[in-house]
Parts: sequence; C-alpha cells; structure tokens
Amino acid sequence: MNKMTVRDIDVAGKKVLVRVDFNVPVDLKTGEITDDSRIRASLPTIKYLLERKASIILMSHFGRPKGKVVNDMRLAPVAKRLSQILKQPVKTTDDCIGPEVEKAVKALKPGDVLLLENLRFHAEEEAGDAGFAKALASLGDIYVNDAFGTSHRAHASISGIARYLPAVAGFLLEKEINTLGSLIEKPAHPFTALFGGAKVSDKVAVLKNIMKKVDCLLIGGGMAATFLKAQSYNVGTSLVETESVETAAGLLKEAKKSGVRILLPVDAVVADELNSESKAEVVAIDKIPPMKMIADIGPKTVALFSQELKRSKTVFWNGPMGVHEIPQFAKGTHALAKLIAGLKATTVVGGGSTAEVIDSMGLTDKVTFVSTGGGASLEFLGGDELPGVTALRDKK
Ligand code: 3PG
Repeated sequence: MNKMTVRDIDVAGKKVLVRVDFNVPVDLKTGEITDDSRIRASLPTIKYLLERKASIILMSHFGRPKGKVVNDMRLAPVAKRLSQILKQPVKTTDDCIGPEVEKAVKALKPGDVLLLENLRFHAEEEAGDAGFAKALASLGDIYVNDAFGTSHRAHASISGIARYLPAVAGFLLEKEINTLGSLIEKPAHPFTALFGGAKVSDKVAVLKNIMKKVDCLLIGGGMAATFLKAQSYNVGTSLVETESVETAAGLLKEAKKSGVRILLPVDAVVADELNSESKAEVVAIDKIPPMKMIADIGPKTVALFSQELKRSKTVFWNGPMGVHEIPQFAKGTHALAKLIAGLKATTVVGGGSTAEVIDSMGLTDKVTFVSTGGGASLEFLGGDELPGVTALRDKK
C-alpha cells in the first residue's frame, strides 16, 4: 500500500482519532454481540497506540439510524466488549461531537481509550458534511483510518476528516488492502472464486473484474437463479433479478470468450417456502418444480464445486450457497466452508455473512484471511478506489 500508516507518524502522547468499523452483528432479541471479529481486528492498531501512550478516541457507526438517535443502536455494548478484551476501561460519551465530548476528550490521559457515540446519529456523517468532519477533527491531533469495512463510503469520518488532520492508515486497513490487492495482482493459479448470496446486481463489477484474474468462477446462492434463468432454466418461484438476467448472460458469454470456466449448480435443494418448517427436497437443476424455490445447492453441486476448489492454489469466497440460517438449507454452505478451511491454498473470505459463517463454524483461523469488509472488499476487488484510502497521506 502506498499510503502512510501509524508507523510513519509520531503518535507518542498525542490525541489520536481512530475510525474503526464496530458495526458488529447483534442478536436482535437480546442485543448481544454475536460476532466480535471486527472489534478484535482493530486491536493491533489500538495496542500499538496504547504502547506509545497516545490517548485514543475511537469513532464508529453502528447500523443505519439515518441521522436520528436510536437507543438500540448506541455503542455502549461495543465499548463494554472492547473493555473486556483490552482489560481496561473504555469510556463512552452520549454524542460524538459537542461540549460534553470536548470535555471528555480534554480529560483523557495518555493510554486512555474513549469510544464516541454512533456517528450516524448525525445525518451529516453520511452526507460527508464538512462542518461535521471539522468538528470531529477538532477532537484530535492525528487521524487514523482503520475502518476498512466502511472505506467505500465517502462519509465525514472516513474521507472528509482527512482534510483537517494528518491522516494515515491503521494496521487493519493496511492488511486488508495488501491482502486483497495481492489477490488481484499476483494470485497463484489455478485461482477459483466462489460467489453466492442473494444479488447479482451487487456483484456485477467485482464479477467482471475478477473474471480477468480467475481460472474458474463458481456461482451458487440466490444469485445462481438469475444465471440459471439466463441459460433458460426453469427456476420455479426462486427470486430472479429480472433486470440482471441480461447482465448474467453477458458475463457467461464474456467468460466463454476469455476462456474462464463458470460453473453453475447442477442440482439444488428446493422448498415451498424459506422457513424453518419447510421440507427440503433435492432435485436436478432442470427439474425444479414450478411452485418451489431454490434454497441451497445440492450434493452433486457440492461435489462439483469441491473438485474445482481442491485443485486451486488461490480461492476467494463471497456469499453463502443457500439460506444458511435455516439448518435444512445450510448444508451446501457448511460443506464448502469446511472444505475451503482444509485447503493447502491461499484462501480469502470476503466479509459480511460469509465471515459470520466461517466464524460461527470456528474456522476463522483455518483460512488465510477473512476480510472485515463486505461491500468494501467487493468494491475494492471490483477495481474501485475506496474514498477512505484515497484520502490518506501518500507514502513519501
Ligand atoms: C458494513 O457492515 O458493511 C459496514 O459497516 C458498512 O455499513 P453500511 O453498509 O451501513 O454503510
């Protein structure tokens, strides 16, 4: 990465504003954090700053409160979890700017950690408002962006703030950019990308870009239905993105021309509805009953995809193969997760729900890298510049 990092700037004794992505998944009923990987991923930067006796002011968003204070989206539970992990108090404030915050910041001693309240309680954050960015910047001496997962957003705390302070990358941001960057720059071949999840439209750019680098593209999950439709299969009541069928057909054509193999499911688990009471049935892909929908890839597809993955030296995986939250539709996702975790290859998992699957199966340490960014990793791999990275100081 050609950007300055915390290593390139004197942070000792300074007030350092660190943008983190603590937008962690929570259990909607209990409010409990169900996966704290994003909190843990910020530890190298936080510890580095603590060792140098900086005062740390952490900033994050949580959920999408759309510019209003939503009590369920306060960051207190996150501060509590971070405090348990760090084994030191993590102070909090009721807001992220204003007199109370300024007072709390002024009172910080070297080695103290403060987590400001959810940035998105202010509509100015997402609007990239300059005044709001300036108010945040006034709280510290240095800005560190360690929020890779939000770096595709041109928000006030991501890119706006960098205009007012020396702005450098944290270790997580650096690691993400370097790992994902080397995946598209110099992957070991055969390189296989496995895509799933609901929407083709979310992934068109990354599919186009990654197609230039991979030897084989495996497509499962909800998005497979749109590709199958593009090949004139009957997909029953499966959700098809009608407006993306042509795009999918174009991608299939482009792949053929450039010698990239795209493999689609050859069988599927289908059901009447996608709920925990639904009965699962395995059918060949050309035998999907008109009133049923695809809920998972079938066992023959698992075998087909496994064969490709086993011979790969580089694997990138984004998106579950089916409705993995419901046990009878989780088999495809779980089987491939286990297989990928056992490969002797560079295995990179791209954020969001795929990262949650890997974490819930205890496989995080068995893959080379799990990105903390869902949308951010896809935008980066799709060839887009991330505003949160562009805004940082270039390496001299
Ligand atoms: C994420 O979870 O992908 C990031 O935290 C960004 O969140 P957003 O999609 O609400 O901007």
